[in-house]
Amino acid sequence: MNEYMDDLVENAGDGIISISRDGTIMSMNRSAEDIFGYSRSEAIGQDIDIIVPQDKLVDVKELLLGKVISNGEVIRGFETERIRKDGKKVAVNVTISPIRDKSGSVVGASGIFRTLTEEEFMRKRITQFDKLISVGKLAAELAHQVNSPLGAVVGRIQLILKNIDKFDKEMLRNNLKQMMTGCDHIQTAIGSLLDYSRRVAGRKPVDINTVIEDALIMMSTRLMLKKISVHKSLTKNLPEIMEVGSELIHVFVSIMSNAIDAMDKGGRLEVITDVVKDPKNSSVSKVRITIMDTGHGISEQNIEKIFTPFYTTKDEGKGTGLGLPIVKRIIKIHKGDIDVLSKVNQGTSVILSFPGLIDDEEAI
Ligand SMILES: Nc1ncnc2c1ncn2[C@@H]1O[C@H](COP(=O)(O)OP(=O)(O)OP(=O)(O)O)[C@@H](O)[C@H]1O
Ligand SMILES: [Mg+2]
Repeated sequence: MNEYMDDLVENAGDGIISISRDGTIMSMNRSAEDIFGYSRSEAIGQDIDIIVPQDKLVDVKELLLGKVISNGEVIRGFETERIRKDGKKVAVNVTISPIRDKSGSVVGASGIFRTLTEEEFMRKRITQFDKLISVGKLAAELAHQVNSPLGAVVGRIQLILKNIDKFDKEMLRNNLKQMMTGCDHIQTAIGSLLDYSRRVAGRKPVDINTVIEDALIMMSTRLMLKKISVHKSLTKNLPEIMEVGSELIHVFVSIMSNAIDAMDKGGRLEVITDVVKDPKNSSVSKVRITIMDTGHGISEQNIEKIFTPFYTTKDEGKGTGLGLPIVKRIIKIHKGDIDVLSKVNQGTSVILSFPGLIDDEEAI
């Protein structure tokens, strides 16, 4: 049985390393030799730190010594980086478990390593990061959205409280009505955010006009404060688009937010939806959305950079430079395209297109 187990470990497709309580490497299998580039004779007897990059040493001490060895916990599917003998980093998924002797005391730990391709590693990191940023962005939009009407309502309550004796019924009624409008705004903003956060990450056909309307509601306070007029020309009965994971709202919130930021002295925001034929395949209809602003525009040399992560011309604390890269990622998931045309001091047009679902096309 023991020999059988030894063979199993030795020939496993994943790298397996065992260490003693103080972190000394006690054994490693063939796959671990391949992953880390050390032969067994080189590695055994050395500290596990030889495969740990400098910036991950603390993690290893905490996870390995703290959780696994001291508390006897198992850490599963932890994604991290390790370092090979040749100095190259390798992305791995690792599961670390305590090794116990017959009496049950922890005498060391074993690590099972599976390599991740660089792409897998980055993709996972980027999506986790994106999610945080998108939630943060929607929360920021909600704060914008709620703050002004809330301020107005609070202001009115204070005014009434101070002058309660001077108010006749009619004045009170008017003030209450205005407060109600403020509260309606707040309710709508919160309602649409909750609605979006509740939806699960499935696929479902959507009419893009409704997503645009929702985004405009979310932006309405900022548009009003900046004295930006909105012009909509939304074609009715558009083919539906297969939405993945309720993410399309971020696309419009980000693009409109950029347009608003570009129009400091007021301006005009125009949103047009229509249907065009795919030039490559005339049987496919594409839903096209054009979002135009009359803002400060983007210079020719900068337009190439706008999709680069962290590229921003905004003051520190105002822009992260992740808006458009995230927009691009979401559009790609939806098999869509994005094009940005701009002239300095004249304005910017963002043109999006998505393949429309053919009538009765099954949701996949
Ligand atoms: N409609 C627009 N008008 C003028 N400049 C724009 C417009 N849209 C994007 N830009 C330029 O592209 C840059 C990158 O946009 P992006 O949305 O990726 O980041 P950001 O708006 O700077 O930051 P964040 O979106 O995180 O708040 C902006 O800083 C701005 O210079
Ligand atoms: Mg932005």
